Amino acid sequence: MSKKLLSIKYQCQQPHCQVFCQKGAILLEESEFERLSARAGAGEGTFKSPSGVCRMGFSQTFKVVNIEEAREAGRQAAGDVAAAGVKAADAGKDPLARLSEEHKGVLKKLDIISRQVLKRDIDGLWHTTAAVENDILLHSIKKEEEVLFPLIEDRVPMGPALITIMKEDHRELIALLHAFRCGLQDGEILDGLVNSLVVNLRNHITKEDEEFFVLIDEYLSLKEREDIFARMKGIEESHIPIVAGDRNKKGLSPYAQDRKKLDAQIASLKSISSVGGEQSCCGGS
Ligand SMILES: [Fe+2]
Ligand SMILES: [Fe+2]
Repeated sequence: MSKKLLSIKYQCQQPHCQVFCQKGAILLEESEFERLSARAGAGEGTFKSPSGVCRMGFSQTFKVVNIEEAREAGRQAAGDVAAAGVKAADAGKDPLARLSEEHKGVLKKLDIISRQVLKRDIDGLWHTTAAVENDILLHSIKKEEEVLFPLIEDRVPMGPALITIMKEDHRELIALLHAFRCGLQDGEILDGLVNSLVVNLRNHITKEDEEFFVLIDEYLSLKEREDIFARMKGIEESHIPIVAGDRNKKGLSPYAQDRKKLDAQIASLKSISSVGGEQSCCGGS
């Protein structure tokens, strides 16, 4: 006999958590759902989170927002799209889908960067990191920060806080990229900086694709999606791409000692965190 699979939309009841998994959807076998609902601390209409779902590693109480059989949910979702004619007709013009597509291009560049670091290909890195810098300017600053974020900031739960986190990520990525490229001009591949850049940018993309965009998706109408898409297209057309230029022609920043110090600090922090214990919680129970 096949096991019944449930599609459950939930809201985490931990009020102090600052990470992005507060709302979400999971698939659970019915028997597992019953077991989690019966656990101590789970009240009426709630269940304890399965292991690994809370990003901070705790067993949280989740409130059920919606629950249905998974096969039924799949049919319903397909029906919704077809009926509304929203995403199906305009999948190619959906700004969130477009941004996620652009993320794939950035991830490919990060793979290239990792290979270039291994090969100590300094000129290759000079060009690839310029392309990533261009992506951050066009995609993250011009499209996300100037077009998308202002529109949804006051609509989504904890919008201003979430957008502050996104913007901080962008600034940190730019700072790492800039310092690393300055090092390349000095003839050095600063491993601490480039490793942080690759890891942080990958994490940022995952955060947007799997959490942030999922969260804001339900707050955008078809008309707004069309407007955002058109504005983003206009920005793309008027954007003047960053080009790598001549690596040997100095000019980015003369503070070589500061870069080396930062690189060494990051390297030592990484070694501590790889040996050290777990992250502390944000107030989880
Ligand atoms: Fe992005
Ligand atoms: Fe971003």
